[in-house]
Amino acid sequence: MALPASFISELKARLSITDIVSSYVNLKRRGRNMIGLCPFHSEKTPSFTLYPENGSFCCFGCGVGGDIITFTMKIENLDYIEAVKLLAAKAGMSMPEDSYYDDSIAKLKGRILEANREAARFFHAQLMSENGKAAQEYLMGRALSRQTVVRFGLGYAPANRFALSSHLRKKGFKDEEIVAANLAFQKSGGKGIVDRFSDRVMFPIIDLRGNVIAFGGRILTDQKPKYLNTSDTLVFKKSANLFSLNNAKNSGLRTLILCEGYMDVIAVNAAGFQNAVATLGTALTSEQALLMKRYADEVIICYDADEAGQKATARAIEILRNAGLVIRVLTVPDGKDPDEFIRKNGDRGQAAFKNLIESSGNDVEYRLTKIRLMHDLGRPDSKAAYMKEALKVISGLDSVIEQDIYCSRLSEELGIRKDAITEDLNKLKASKRKDDYKKEYKKVSDNLVGNNEKLNSERKQNIRGAKAEEMLIAYIFHNPDMLKKAEELISDKDFVTTFNLRFYQYISDKIKSGLPPDLSIAQDFTSDEVSRFYYIINSYNSQTATVAAMKEYIDTIKFEKGKLSKQDLADMSAEEIMLSMKNRKKPKP
Ligand code: GTP
Ligand code: MN
Repeated sequence: MALPASFISELKARLSITDIVSSYVNLKRRGRNMIGLCPFHSEKTPSFTLYPENGSFCCFGCGVGGDIITFTMKIENLDYIEAVKLLAAKAGMSMPEDSYYDDSIAKLKGRILEANREAARFFHAQLMSENGKAAQEYLMGRALSRQTVVRFGLGYAPANRFALSSHLRKKGFKDEEIVAANLAFQKSGGKGIVDRFSDRVMFPIIDLRGNVIAFGGRILTDQKPKYLNTSDTLVFKKSANLFSLNNAKNSGLRTLILCEGYMDVIAVNAAGFQNAVATLGTALTSEQALLMKRYADEVIICYDADEAGQKATARAIEILRNAGLVIRVLTVPDGKDPDEFIRKNGDRGQAAFKNLIESSGNDVEYRLTKIRLMHDLGRPDSKAAYMKEALKVISGLDSVIEQDIYCSRLSEELGIRKDAITEDLNKLKASKRKDDYKKEYKKVSDNLVGNNEKLNSERKQNIRGAKAEEMLIAYIFHNPDMLKKAEELISDKDFVTTFNLRFYQYISDKIKSGLPPDLSIAQDFTSDEVSRFYYIINSYNSQTATVAAMKEYIDTIKFEKGKLSKQDLADMSAEEIMLSMKNRKKPKP
């Protein structure tokens, strides 16, 4: 059962898409629309466009689009019903009875979160009990205070592989729910379930609403794997979450310290810096960078000093830069990780780490230093190679002032005239700009002509016809009164592509019921289809188009439909071909 149309249409009418989107995206007015940096992909120039008049958004960079519900689903990582619930709360509306909709997924998600919370309580109680002696000693050995253990809700998963499952069963959780939470898995071959984590120190991963969404577990010995994390579940996506962002967000700072692991984050916190976060055992993703961008302007990368850590730093710089974050790189001396460094400095740990933060350079300095170390500046050929590499880094800077500062430094360092360096830099920038334009142009044009999608496979065979359909859909969307007129001229069988026909049928159904044409499109189509829909209606600005234009679209569709394919011709008799030629109506040029 679907939610009542009247409910959805009132919800959409009560809320302003501009208000909702503004709380996540910095929007600027451009004519009747608003533009901003897309929250769904990394970009430096805005291609995310909001259309307050029709309550939709579209990004011409990555092709994503939708209405207020789609936006909420995507940005909060929710399904349709959950997004509607969240919006209804904002609009001060109470949800219709739940017999109206299928929220079994939402209910299962709720059960998973409850199971996780109960598991966190259980692990914590175990740690504090006789059972958790070894784990307690382990944590003490790593200099964690009781206060820190409580603050992070650390726990211990007992060695008995049925301990958690039987506890959760007693609390009323079903095996399916425990397995869906990835707290246990089905025994291979046999019946019953086995705990996923055993004999490990447990780190709960908590989201921004305070839900326990997953766990990391560290083994107490040197055995492998050292860490085990919850696999992705309905409530957890490893690549889109960060450890301790819930704490960091409350630091009141717009700076985050990005560490490599759980223990580093905890040590940095214990040293007085609440704004530390870490990825969850995988390399940093652009999704995580966009998430950080919501809570910070600046990120201090604080990875291990070993080779792997330095490689990871280089990659993180790239990703964070693309998300528009200011970056600093903190180097821990003597090849230590932050946790070891703070511990080794004992009582002075906090002050020593503060010192490191304050002396951390920006990412450009870090990268230039790395490059310099690879070249012997005593040799002319090496000097030239160093300058070339260095200019590549400098040309990537957004600020001309910054570029100028680094050119001056290079000039001093290498004893080369500054204007010679600037000249080379300008050449490099010109060719880079051209490449960037080319890339950007290709992306936008791919999206516009629909090359980039496999959604409408018939489109390639008849681009003219498909385009005319799209213009018709956009026209009817913007001028619902004209549906009647259109229906006199065109029927379903005239459509060239079934994909566009579905959109046309959808909006005409809604219009005939007196509803907004895109009422609950986010529920009735897939996310890619929804994007495509808003791409179509916002690409063809047919608000101002005339009835004559509509007739032309229809004529074109019919003409294109009437064209015979080679196969058709082969199958037809001469008389049939003649007849079909006669019946074809040529659209006006
Ligand atoms: P300690 O040895 O406890 O100090 O851990 P660490 O945080 O210093 O670990 P390390 O630098 O080795 O790894 C950093 C992060 O990578 C950890 O916090 C984990 O998230 C992840 N990681 C490390 N080892 C493993 C592993 O064996 N499996 C998985 N899935 N993740 C791991
Ligand atoms: Mn460590």
